Amino acid sequence: MIIIKSDEEIELMRQAAVPTKEMLENLSSIIKPGMSTKDVDDYVEEYILKSGMKPAFKGYSGYPACACVSVNEEVVHGIPSKKRILMEGDIVSVDLGTIYKGFYSDAARTYPVGKISEKHQKLIETAEKSFFAGIFFARKGNRLGDISHAIQECVEAEGFSVIRDYVGHGVGRNMHEDPMIPNYGKANHGPQLVPGMVLAIEPMIATGAYNVKVMPDGWTAVTKDGGFAAHYENTIVITDGDPILLTK
Ligand code: MF3
Ligand code: CO
Repeated sequence: MIIIKSDEEIELMRQAAVPTKEMLENLSSIIKPGMSTKDVDDYVEEYILKSGMKPAFKGYSGYPACACVSVNEEVVHGIPSKKRILMEGDIVSVDLGTIYKGFYSDAARTYPVGKISEKHQKLIETAEKSFFAGIFFARKGNRLGDISHAIQECVEAEGFSVIRDYVGHGVGRNMHEDPMIPNYGKANHGPQLVPGMVLAIEPMIATGAYNVKVMPDGWTAVTKDGGFAAHYENTIVITDGDPILLTK
């Protein structure tokens, strides 16, 4: 069941999204070679606590940190560590969220660490571009598959692959609500979009094959072939007109 949010609930979700958006903006100038992934998480934890909100991820299904920090071939759910030092040429995905008055925000970006290869630059740009190709269809009366299909077309046209094992989702009083939103699929399929739906759209893409495996830590998902991965996510609202991007 897809939960439709009232204007009042959407206003709370907009507020929940403010620090999320600010952190993701700030991280683009904070992330530097020599930092550990734990340093990134420390920044996020402090920022969320200062905002008076709660971190969405810490304790969620036992997850131990406020942010997921995934480097290179790590696709999602990288656990921050003091031992994982970011190096020039790496790419790093940061996924984070807050809870405010019972409502979740959820968003992610992938950042270059220092100077990176052209291919990885294009990977990061394509994750973002595919999100926007998808939300072009995020309008009432369209179907969910229109978004999924547009993301897939965009990613594959650049020669990259769409991760299958992780998907976007509805978001609200729970971080993961219906519907599941794959980043691949058929146009004109799936539920119709209705004003008041709040969705976390989050393409995860890779340079090589889309197959992933979870590391022995039980969280970190990596590409099986070692290809690098990028992630771009925003929490959005379906309206009578253009979608609202709460986290951008
Ligand atoms: N942002 C992730 C998602 O969209 C959630 C991270 S899972 C957590 O599914 F357990 F680490 F919180
Ligand atoms: Co999400």
